Amino acid sequence: MPGRSALNNDLADWDKLEIEPKNLLDNFKRIIKPKGNIFIFTTYNQIGKWHEVFDPEFDTFQFMVWHKTNPTPKIYKNGFLNSCELIVCMWNKGHQWNFSNQKEMHNFIQTPICMQPERLSNPKHPAQKPVKLLEHIIKIASNEGDTILDPFMGVGSTGIASYNLNRNFIGIELEKEYFDATCKRFKNHECKMKEYAMSN
Ligand SMILES: C[S@@+](CC[C@H](N)C(=O)[O-])C[C@H]1O[C@@H](n2cnc3c(N)ncnc32)[C@H](O)[C@@H]1O
Repeated sequence: MPGRSALNNDLADWDKLEIEPKNLLDNFKRIIKPKGNIFIFTTYNQIGKWHEVFDPEFDTFQFMVWHKTNPTPKIYKNGFLNSCELIVCMWNKGHQWNFSNQKEMHNFIQTPICMQPERLSNPKHPAQKPVKLLEHIIKIASNEGDTILDPFMGVGSTGIASYNLNRNFIGIELEKEYFDATCKRFKNHECKMKEYAMSN
């Protein structure tokens, strides 16, 4: 619209850097436990890169679709809404999978994007995920007492989801304001974290 900046899939500065899956592969393979699963939120134009590098290195490579029920509208109706986000997932034989029925096994999950009051307002994180979505993934792919790692933690939604499901959590975040917001969020979480250790 006149006077407005163009909309695209770049949410923040980190989207301006090219993701190179091959630079992440060795560390992912180094830290994954024998029963572990890896989930990576990505976009349609990156999925080929992840597949090319990760598929030969793991027994199985699949993907899930997260359908957002309230995406940004397109008022000119000149294209599809950006209502889907892709999540690539991979694992090795012997991995944890907790499906109880066929319905849970659809590689599709539908939720609204993160809204108030769950969404933090200060700082605003452009890609804060809904805890419900992360709980779904964590529940099907790990057991109580397991450790979940989010190496791009943002404001800690994966940590809150892990805590709610009695999993341990390790988070890594580059930006101090998001890291501090996560610490505050943990302290204020309704269930109150029993123990947490944070470092800069
Ligand atoms: C898409 S957001 C993560 C959202 C979060 N995982 C969630 O579920 O709500 C990506 C985050 O990675 C952080 N980041 C970017 N490069 C990083 C790096 N090299 N190490 C750690 N964090 C990084 C960004 O500051 C940003 O908060």
